[in-house]
Amino acid sequence: MVRLAAMATRPTPDAYPDRSIADLLDLEGRVAVVTGAAQGFGFAAARRLAEAGAAVLLTDRRGDAVEAAAGRLADHRERIAWAVGDVSVADDVDGLVSAAVERFGRLDVLVNNAAAYSNVRLEEMPLDRFAGVLDVNVSGAFWCARQAARRMIEQGDGGAIVNVTSIDALHPTSRGMSHYTTSKHALWGLTKCLALELGPQGIRSNAVAPGPSLTEGAIEYIKAGAPEGIDIERQWADAATRVPMRRWADPDEIGRVVVFLASDLAAYINGAQIVVDGGYLLG
Ligand SMILES: NC(=O)c1ccc[n+]([C@@H]2O[C@H](COP(=O)([O-])OP(=O)(O)OC[C@H]3O[C@@H](n4cnc5c(N)ncnc54)[C@H](O)[C@@H]3O)[C@@H](O)[C@H]2O)c1
Repeated sequence: MVRLAAMATRPTPDAYPDRSIADLLDLEGRVAVVTGAAQGFGFAAARRLAEAGAAVLLTDRRGDAVEAAAGRLADHRERIAWAVGDVSVADDVDGLVSAAVERFGRLDVLVNNAAAYSNVRLEEMPLDRFAGVLDVNVSGAFWCARQAARRMIEQGDGGAIVNVTSIDALHPTSRGMSHYTTSKHALWGLTKCLALELGPQGIRSNAVAPGPSLTEGAIEYIKAGAPEGIDIERQWADAATRVPMRRWADPDEIGRVVVFLASDLAAYINGAQIVVDGGYLLG
């Protein structure tokens, strides 16, 4: 007979029952990197991570925008830094991970939030447009996770990776987004692989799957219009009436879930995807 003691390879942290909820949520001493942090969900996540006590490196491919975003978090002073980098460029990603370690001494949390999206009908989708979205949303997220995980493994005390997917990771929500929807399904798959392979090192990997939210990027996307036959404004209007809560998500409502998953409140959540869509997928 297998003895129970021999079955447990990693003990449950004894201190957990004694820690208050506030303490479990406290990220003081931890260092987070957020990609695509100049606006939208990325900025909302960075803001809440900083509020929870983490040192945060805001990163984005747009330098001026990410510098301005970091400036809006000036209250947290020396715990905020910014860096420019495109997640689809491996050297840039290596530079972002190094920048976090150089600036703050370690890396504990990665938020893979940056994404590319556009609206192109399937039969007109050029191969490079399709592949370009996968480069950012999948390969970029993979390389960020791989490089961050190597640093976390070196540190030896675990970490958390949060991938921002979409309800499109579960079900396509609109026409003209075959590249995006494919990429988000893949990112959810990657999240589970990370959870499986990095779990033994105490690194938890999870996903947040938001529903529609009028972020700066979403507004630009709607304004840019769509190919003939796809009415983007209609799609968004229909989306709001379809949500049982009858409204789009506030970006902060995504940021809050990112902080939860990054914190010890979620200490035993690994390989999960939290859908934050006001019930959209039920409709
Ligand atoms: N807004 C929504 O309705 C919605 C819904 C579901 C999921 N999402 C997902 O949430 C995440 C954030 O969405 P958002 O609406 O806040 O987006 P957004 O477009 O407002 O912001 C994205 C940020 O990422 C940056 N970025 C884009 N490509 C990059 C790259 N290659 N390297 C580095 N930075 C890059 C942009 O400069 C921008 O600042 C994305 O992963 C998106 O797919 C958004």
